[in-house]
Formats: sequence, structure tokens, C-alpha cells
Amino acid sequence: MTSSNSSSRLKPDTRLAHSGRDPQSFHGFVNPPVVHASTVLYPDSQTLVTGGQTYSYARRGNPTTDSLEDAIKEMEGAAGAKIANSGLNAIALAILSCVKAGDHILIVDTAYGPTRHFADTVLPNFGVSVEYFDPHLGSDIKSLFRPETTAVFTESPGSLTFEMQDIPAISAAAHEIGATVLMDNTWATSLYCQPLALGVDLSIQAGTKYIVGHSDAMLGVVAANEKAWKGLNAVHGAMGSHVAPDDIFLGLRGLRTLSVRLERHQKNTLTVLDWLKDQSSVGSISYPALPTDPGYEIWKRDCSGSSGLCAFHFPDGTSQDQTHAFLDALQLFGLGYSWGGFESLAIPVRLKGMRSATPVSETAQSVRLHIGLEDPEDLIRDLVQALKKAFG
Ligand SMILES: Cc1ncc(COP(=O)(O)O)c(C=O)c1O
Repeated sequence: MTSSNSSSRLKPDTRLAHSGRDPQSFHGFVNPPVVHASTVLYPDSQTLVTGGQTYSYARRGNPTTDSLEDAIKEMEGAAGAKIANSGLNAIALAILSCVKAGDHILIVDTAYGPTRHFADTVLPNFGVSVEYFDPHLGSDIKSLFRPETTAVFTESPGSLTFEMQDIPAISAAAHEIGATVLMDNTWATSLYCQPLALGVDLSIQAGTKYIVGHSDAMLGVVAANEKAWKGLNAVHGAMGSHVAPDDIFLGLRGLRTLSVRLERHQKNTLTVLDWLKDQSSVGSISYPALPTDPGYEIWKRDCSGSSGLCAFHFPDGTSQDQTHAFLDALQLFGLGYSWGGFESLAIPVRLKGMRSATPVSETAQSVRLHIGLEDPEDLIRDLVQALKKAFG
């Protein structure tokens, strides 16, 4: 199915299966070819000088990149989409497409750590001032607007601490002053949250996580509405951004099964958390899809599902040594950062230097879990023995 089909009437699962591919254009093969290329040849000099053919230079796109970009465009209901070589690269490109020297960008305090690093170390060198805001602000974000505010970067739920943001309220406020709204939607994906429909202009995902879904490639995607598309496309081209075709192939392959994988991540996570909440050595849980979570009402309004990333907090008085003893005792959960694959993961939550607009305890002991596709009974058994080793 190509983008020319009226795909907006199709349900998301159907779009996942069909978008971005047109078998009859490739001799009937179900999947598009993986085009390895740099040079593109022209039939004659006239076509070369006028650029009169679909592809001109592999960096600028080929049938493989088009397939994934078309699929993301359809999934997001976007005017256009671009792919980047990592989630962080997608974030950087999206931000660079809507700020210039003299501008002010507001970034949610709970943004992914390396997003902060990019904003703090690169943007000021180009004359862009960066300010962080409390994720709970909603339309009160207006109080931080300056005449030179041109962009608002959101991420919902927030990294490590999982605060939900009122994206429609923030978007409406930002649009009153003509600012562009960006959202990192990696946690929910375009299957469970549709940022553009909530008012966002640039919707970003670290495709490395659930789109690829198998911990074997890095990828980023940005989908833009009509207003933001021209700028995104221009910056993407000017920066020479390009993703290797084999990685795009892995992204396309992952996309086809995104829905069934996410459904299982969600089910397993709810099962594990339902058990975890009753453990005496566990204080509280952060996961917006739980009715006890402060972000539950916003999650219910803005999302149609939840993924496998969550955190739990040990009670006050727990030491770092106990947290490490727990982590080191885990056998099925790997200790590693990049989540979204089929496997379960755990890391200690470390907030030192990661927040500036909201008070956080830098000594509280918390663990971020990614609940994978294993049998949740085995995962629970692993958590039981690790908690026992750490807490007796
Ligand atoms: C919420 C979020 N956004 C962006 C990224 C960056 O993705 P990548 O590792 O592909 O650069 C991550 C990575 O962990 C993430 O968790």
C-alpha cells in the first residue's frame, strides 16, 4: 500500500502491516528491496542537470528510506517524516529545525538525559538560550514565555521519573505565540499515542527501542505536521543525515510486529507490577497506566496503551549498596540502558545533575525496569530471589 491509498480510514494494526510498501513496484515481493547505494546514475546530461528523476544522490533518499519514512508518516498522520541514525540524532535534528540564533527554547525538566546534554552543550554555542520547565505546568507554561520563545520540547512520560505532561494544553499555549511544539514519544510509540493529533508539531521516537524492537540496531524517526515539515526536511538534508539500509530494513521489519510485541510488553508489565506493589521491600511504583500513578488521568485521556518501561522505588532508608545487591542478584534482567527490545532490563535510577526545574532526591533508591517478552512468572521469580538476596 502506498501513501496514495486512503489509509487514514484503516485501523492502526492494518496500517502497521501495509504502510510503506508497494509490492507491485518491486516485482510482487512483499518487502521493499534493501538498496545499498551512494551513486545514482542519470540516463543523459539533461536529466542530470535538471535533476529530473526521482532519486539523485543516495544520501537524499532511496526506495528503502522512502519505505520507512512513508510508513512513519502514515502511522503518525503526518505531512512528512524523516529518519535519523539514532533517537538522539532525531531529537537534535528536530530541535535544530525550529530554532535559530537569538531564540529561546523551553525543554521539559524530565527530558531524556542526553537531550539535556545536547541542549546544554550545543545550542548555546549557536546563540539559543535553553530553559527547563516543570513537567506538571500544562497551560501555565505561558508564564515562562518570552518574546523570543520559538520552541517547546516535551517528553511524556518523562525519562526515569515518568511524569505525564498535559500535551494538548502546552501545545495550545505554545501555538498562541507561534512556537513549535516537539514531543519525544518513544515510550508510547505512535501506536499508543498520536502526538500530532494532540497538537504537537514534531513527533519524535527513538526507533532503536520499540520500532526496531530487538536490541540490534539504532534508529530515530521524526514526523512533522504541515507547519514543521519544510524546516525538518531542509535541516535533515543540509546536515547530511543518512541511515544505513540494513538498519532501515530492521526498522521496517520491527514495525510490522510492533503491535503484538507492545501488547505483550504491556500485559507482562501489568502482571509484574501487580505483584511488585505488594512487596514489603518496595515503596512505590511509577507507571502512568496504574490508577495509583499521579499521571493516570492524563495517560487515560491521551494514550491507548502502555509499554514495558517503569520504575519502582525502595522505601526511605534503603542504601545504595542494597540497590546494587538487588541489581547484581538479577539473573534474567540484564543490566543495560537501551530498552525496547524483547528482553528485560534493569538500571539504578540516578538523577544527579538531571533536573534543574523540579526538586528531586538524588539519594532516593529507585530502579528502572524494562519488562520484556519473557514469561512474567519467570521474571517475578527472578525479582523474588534478588529482593531476598538484597533485603533478606
Ligand atoms: C526517551 C528516550 N528518547 C530518546 C532516546 C535516545 O535514543 P537512541 O539511544 O536511539 O539515541 C532514548 C534512549 O534511551 C530514550 O529513552
